[in-house]
Amino acid sequence: MNFDVAQHKTKLQSYFNGVGFERWSAIYGQGPLTGVRRSVRDGHTMMMDRAEAWLLEQGLPTNAHIFDAGCGTGLFSIRLARRGFRVTAADIAPQMVRTASQQAHQAGAAIADRIRFVAGDLEVVGGTYDAVVCFDVLIHYPRPAFAQLCSRLARLSRGPLILTYAPYNRLLAFKHWLGGHFPHSQRRTDIQMMPGDFVRHTLEQAGMRVRRQVPVSCGFYHVVLLEAEKQEFLNRFGRVRF
Ligand SMILES: C[S@@+](CC[C@H](N)C(=O)[O-])C[C@H]1O[C@@H](n2cnc3c(N)ncnc32)[C@H](O)[C@@H]1O
Repeated sequence: MNFDVAQHKTKLQSYFNGVGFERWSAIYGQGPLTGVRRSVRDGHTMMMDRAEAWLLEQGLPTNAHIFDAGCGTGLFSIRLARRGFRVTAADIAPQMVRTASQQAHQAGAAIADRIRFVAGDLEVVGGTYDAVVCFDVLIHYPRPAFAQLCSRLARLSRGPLILTYAPYNRLLAFKHWLGGHFPHSQRRTDIQMMPGDFVRHTLEQAGMRVRRQVPVSCGFYHVVLLEAEKQEFLNRFGRVRF
């Protein structure tokens, strides 16, 4: 039976607009948290620190335009705007986008003015961007949808694509299973683990090559942060020959 991507997106949209919004906005906020969710917040911050450093190493001009696909409450979009970048920030859950926009305005008019918020599926956002980032979004999609979204993201970027995925690992599979036994209010979202070879192959099919990747682990937060770049870019500048 074919996997229904549209139906899966509808389920995610409703989750991230409701109970998922409550859970994740608490994790992305600054209020007190219990151990499991605290570790997810800390791991997510470590991931964003590393991703921001990678983007800055690219030497993009300050007015470069970056697409934050699945922006959530806008944490990374606001970081980017503080650096002077223009940002398009899209999220399938309108509640997330409303919160992201409020946070941007609280950060100041100069920040908010640099971010264009879109409530909608990242696959319907058009344009091309100097870089595309997509954090902790693909972790919610099984293989066929993961591949579909990846190739869309690759098409939107003129430069790097920086994303996270949940690496496949038996011990982590066990930890996630264990996570499902925590009290309901603390329970994780379903995470789709991907083998590294599948991710690399998917990106290559989309015309990109993995430049670097690093695991980011903290308590119950386990992702791989990955940067890919266009194969034609590599060819043109002679860093890699095919
Ligand atoms: C775990 S949150 C991560 C938020 C943000 N990227 C961050 O790291 O702070 C996942 C977000 O992806 C969004 N999302 C899931 N599928 C999406 C899609 N197809 N298009 C746009 N947003 C999507 C959800 O609504 C949710 O806000």
